[in-house]
Amino acid sequence: MSENDHYAIAIDGPAASGKSTIAKCLARELGLVMVNSGAMYRAVTWKMLELGVDIHNADSVVAALRAMQVECGVEGCFSTIAIDGRWLSEELRASAVNQAVSVVAAVPEVRELLVQKQRDYLKHTSVVMEGRDIGSVVFPDTRYKIYVDASEEVRAARRSAEGVTDSVAARDKADSNRKTAPLLIAPGAVVLDNSHHTVESAVAAALEILRTQGLTKK
Ligand code: CDP
Ligand code: CDP
Repeated sequence: MSENDHYAIAIDGPAASGKSTIAKCLARELGLVMVNSGAMYRAVTWKMLELGVDIHNADSVVAALRAMQVECGVEGCFSTIAIDGRWLSEELRASAVNQAVSVVAAVPEVRELLVQKQRDYLKHTSVVMEGRDIGSVVFPDTRYKIYVDASEEVRAARRSAEGVTDSVAARDKADSNRKTAPLLIAPGAVVLDNSHHTVESAVAAALEILRTQGLTKK
């Protein structure tokens, strides 16, 4: 699983289930780097939209991908991402990106490139990584796997409370039905139902799950 004794905590689940929120708190508690793998798929998608690539044409997506320089970093205890030298943040939450990201993320070549970059983080640090396929594909051998879930109503309400236009149900459907690395409960993952938790109690529940999975730190 690890390089240089570094390890990964995998946090997967559907859109707006609370993965980022829980992963950030865990990273703070445990002194790890939080890696937002969704931001990588969003960044590549943002660039495709900037370039006017027809995202429904996989060959065009792959050609644009090959011409792109994707750079992943860390600032404080969070992952960062740049495309062709431009560091991205707010742009990644745009409605246009929400609508397009599942299409781009279904292209196997996109996944191949980004999965390698996700694994590369372990060369430098231990991570809490959140996404859709972290426990199933990126780090299948890690002992620490949580699948964060919440009802569709709760997830849609939480996302709209953030003032974001995001069809979470449509994205989940696309993410769950794609051929490559679909969203699923990875073997060995424990499900954390975040429908009725506060953030604090969800993080406490996540820490408890990690203890049962053998995490001794903290
Ligand atoms: O934050 P939210 O759950 O809304 O989405 P995200 O984690 O930023 O992920 C955005 C999109 O990227 C997802 O809907 C997936 O299509 C894709 N993604 C993926 O395919 N695999 C991952 N490991 C992470 C995200
Ligand atoms: O990363 P993901 O898309 O799974 O979800 P998120 O962006 O971490 O969480 C969606 C929203 O739900 C955020 O505004 C959180 O503050 C809120 N929330 C939560 O994550 N967990 C709770 N128990 C309650 C609210």
